[in-house]
Amino acid sequence: MLDLITSYITSVNYETVVTTNVMPLSPRLYHWFVRPQWLTRKYIHEHIKNHFELDNKIILDFGSGTGANCSICTPGHYIGIEPDKERVNLAKHLYPDHNFVIFDEQRIPSNDDSFDYIFVIAVLHHIPDELIRNYLLEFERVLKPDGKIIVMEPYLRENTQFSNRFMNWYDDGEHIRDETSYLNLFKSNRYECSVLHKFKKCFVYNELFFSATPMVKSAESAYDMDVSLMPGLEFEYEDAQYQGSY
Ligand SMILES: C[S@@+](CC[C@H](N)C(=O)[O-])C[C@H]1O[C@@H](n2cnc3c(N)ncnc32)[C@H](O)[C@@H]1O
Repeated sequence: MLDLITSYITSVNYETVVTTNVMPLSPRLYHWFVRPQWLTRKYIHEHIKNHFELDNKIILDFGSGTGANCSICTPGHYIGIEPDKERVNLAKHLYPDHNFVIFDEQRIPSNDDSFDYIFVIAVLHHIPDELIRNYLLEFERVLKPDGKIIVMEPYLRENTQFSNRFMNWYDDGEHIRDETSYLNLFKSNRYECSVLHKFKKCFVYNELFFSATPMVKSAESAYDMDVSLMPGLEFEYEDAQYQGSY
């Protein structure tokens, strides 16, 4: 399939490449062609498992789609939330032991301090900055004090013009960003980020893999105290952000 796509893209001129919109794939086509098991294992699951111990961890899969990432999580410890009802129905059908619910795109249907990890896999490039900022508040609310967000997104990279154009043409996501823009979204909302890996997927997609930790929550966890009672600490966070440390 990749060969077909590549031969098509090399046969059209640059203007066509950057302006043509591809229709979103149906849930079934998406699941079988974009998330076949071997590809998902190689490009998503192995990276996550290399960096995170998932045993006994409570996991929220944000924008879980057809559920392809639930298989590395224990069924009773996993919830996938997804706005598209058809994708939720297919995920329930494919993975009956895991839990999937329709997401209203506003409030995460969970109590505060519920999750060890939140997966955000190939979701942010579908969402504008303003909405992501709201979600970052929700993520902070539902993460446990030492919890982390695990993010993997396609990104625009310098000196990879073909890949950048291909992703913009081929992908449904209208908000593929560069590395700095993804990280700044988190950092400006008081998250600390750690880039874990950058790699090419299927020769054409640039993938950025990073984790993000809410600074206020992790400080509360480290010192076991309420930082909202300590105005000086807030200044330190802003300072760290300004220096671009992550
Ligand atoms: C490329 S798919 C990735 C699905 C899944 N994370 C995976 O890796 O297979 C992007 C998903 O993000 C979902 N999505 C789009 N807008 C969203 C939003 N505002 N909030 C949460 N999920 C959203 C889409 O419905 C879609 O299922």
